[in-house]
Amino acid sequence: MSAVRKEIKRITTHVLHAMKEQGEKISMLTAYDFSMAKILDAAGIDILLVGDSASNVMAGHETTLPITLEQMIYHAQSVVRAVDRAFVVVDLPFGSYQGNSTKALNSAIAIMKESGAHAVKLEGGAEIEDSVRRILSAGVPVMGHLGLTPQSIYKFGTYSVRAKEEDEARKLVDDAKLLQEAGCFAVVLEKIPATLGKEVSESLHIPVIGIGAGNGTDGQVLVVHDVLGITKDFNPRFLRRYLNLYETIKVAVESYIEDVKSGNFPNEEEQY
Ligand code: KIV
Repeated sequence: MSAVRKEIKRITTHVLHAMKEQGEKISMLTAYDFSMAKILDAAGIDILLVGDSASNVMAGHETTLPITLEQMIYHAQSVVRAVDRAFVVVDLPFGSYQGNSTKALNSAIAIMKESGAHAVKLEGGAEIEDSVRRILSAGVPVMGHLGLTPQSIYKFGTYSVRAKEEDEARKLVDDAKLLQEAGCFAVVLEKIPATLGKEVSESLHIPVIGIGAGNGTDGQVLVVHDVLGITKDFNPRFLRRYLNLYETIKVAVESYIEDVKSGNFPNEEEQY
């Protein structure tokens, strides 16, 4: 374990900045419920993201658009209750901040007040600058999110790699600088070329966390259900699966069903 990690009782934005300064990579995973968050926190994860990907993996929607502010607060409350060490960031859901900085501020305050989370994350650059600045002015830490921003999926049309062309790459670099200058404590870069991920990470003093943004960023984030192989039909190039829990759970449940049907469960020791 590194020098920064060993002595840390609680991860804060200052700790995350120190990690970047000292070249220690930042680990981040999504979490949406108490039991999973408890395990991830015990394992030593640095940041837990209550992502709006809950809309996909928890609720079964095709996109992140349907999830509501109230549902995000419910997931965030469950995660916060589980955590002793990790820094908890919560996504502001689609429709809760775009184009209206007062609404954005109220949404961020509702999340912080009702869940006890430590920060919020918003998707976009210059187009949401007013919302970002308004939330920051209330003392709420903000994480940016650029590149593939799933809340804009109907604008992009596909989930393919973003910022491959020079114009889009330049806008992304400008947006990242703007978010840093506004006061964001970190930025997520999703599904962009590795060279661009490295360039942005080296040009900012705040941590840059990548998902499909290569090895040159200051940290990595993935959706925990993908990492553990609970989902099985989502197989992007950037994903590394550490388990195949879909199969493990299925086999265990098949055994349970068989034991119940055959009368093998419960046995003498499993009853009163
Ligand atoms: O909602 C989410 O899971 C995210 C990550 C993909 C960064 O925003």
